[in-house]
Amino acid sequence: MRYANLGATDLRVSRLCLGTVFRQAADDGVYLATIEAALERGGTFFDTSNVYQGGRSEQLLGRAMRGRRERFVVTTKVGSPEADDASACGLGRATILRCCERSLRRLATDYIDLYLCHFPDPRTPIEETVSAMDELVCQGKVRHVGCSNFESWRLCEALHTSRLHGQAAFVCDQVGYSLLDRRVEDELLPYCARRGVGVTVYAPTAIGLLSGRFRGGEPPPEGTSWHRGPYNFRAAMTPHVGAVIDAVVQAAERLARTPTQVAMAWCLSRPAVTSIIIGCDTPERVHENLAAADWELPEEEVRRLDEVSDGQRLKVRKDCPEGWQR
Ligand SMILES: NC(=O)c1ccc[n+]([C@@H]2O[C@H](COP(=O)([O-])OP(=O)(O)OC[C@H]3O[C@@H](n4cnc5c(N)ncnc54)[C@H](OP(=O)(O)O)[C@@H]3O)[C@@H](O)[C@H]2O)c1
Repeated sequence: MRYANLGATDLRVSRLCLGTVFRQAADDGVYLATIEAALERGGTFFDTSNVYQGGRSEQLLGRAMRGRRERFVVTTKVGSPEADDASACGLGRATILRCCERSLRRLATDYIDLYLCHFPDPRTPIEETVSAMDELVCQGKVRHVGCSNFESWRLCEALHTSRLHGQAAFVCDQVGYSLLDRRVEDELLPYCARRGVGVTVYAPTAIGLLSGRFRGGEPPPEGTSWHRGPYNFRAAMTPHVGAVIDAVVQAAERLARTPTQVAMAWCLSRPAVTSIIIGCDTPERVHENLAAADWELPEEEVRRLDEVSDGQRLKVRKDCPEGWQR
C-alpha cells in the first residue's frame, strides 16, 4: 500500500480508500469481512455517507472500528439529495449539525476524520454551510471538512469564505473521475493542486464498466449493477466507450494485470489525485483491487490510455431502476 497526505493537511491516508456504498445485497458478515480485508492489505481510509444503505454502511463501519478506532480514517458526508428523510436534505446549519450527530451515533465514535458536503446546495448561502462545518471542527466532532461534487468555482467560493472569516477550510473535494469521465481535468484538478486541496476520486472503474466484463453489442452480465439497474447501459455504451474498454483490456493483457487494476492505476498516476475510492463488496474484490496500489502503470501505457480516452465525459444515467432491458 502507498500513503499520502490529504492535500496540505497532516492527515495521512492510504492511496486506495474502501468505498462502502455496498451495492450487492450481501449480509453484514460479508461486508465486515470486506472491511477487514482492506485493513489487512494496509488500507486505512474508508468512505461512507449518511445515505449509503440508509445509514447501514455507517453502522457497519462503526462495528468494524470497535476497540481500534485509531486504525481508521473515516470520511462521511451530509447533504445528499438522495436522502429519504427531508430533515437530512441540503446544507443548512440545522441539517449539518443534526446529521453529524446522527452519523457519530451510527459510527459509534466521538469524531469524524473528514466530513464532506456531499453535493452543492444552491439554496443555502455558502457562508451558512462553511460556518456550520467550522462549528463542528471547533466542537472537536470533526477533524477536517471538505466537499464532494463541487465544481472548481464553488470550491473557490467556499475557500474564500472560510479565509475571510477565519474558519476551517475545505481540505478535500471528492469527485467522479475515470478513463471514461475526464471532466475534472479541465479545471478542478489543476485548481486543487494549486491550492493544496486533496482530491479523492469515486467511480474509478465507472461502476465496473472498465473491469473487462462489458463489451459493446453484448448485454451486461447478469448480477452486475449495469444489468440490475438503475444505470442506463445502452446510453453508456457508445463506440468511444467501447474503444476505451478495449484499450484497458489490451493493456491488462500486456501487463499481466486485471483491467480493473489498470483503470485504477491510471487514476493513481495523476499527481493531483490523493486517493481513489474503490467500490468493493467482497474480500476477494478487495484483494484484487488493492493490489493496484503496489505498482505503477508504465509511462507508455499511461500515454496510450490518455490518447484513447481523450475527451471522455461519460455521464452515468440512473433511469433504468428495473434493470437494463426495461
Ligand atoms: N461522493 C459521491 O457522490 C460518490 C458517488 C459514488 C460513489 N462514491 C463513493 O465511492 C465509492 C466507489 O464508487 P463506485 O462504487 O462507483 O466505484 P467503482 O469502483 O468504479 O465501481 C464499483 C463497482 O465496480 C465493479 N467492480 C469493482 N471491482 C471489480 C472487480 N475487481 N472486478 C469486476 N467488477 C468490479 C462492481 O460492480 P458490480 O457490483 O456490478 O459487480 C462494483 O460495484 C463508493 O463505494 C462510495 O463510497 C461517492
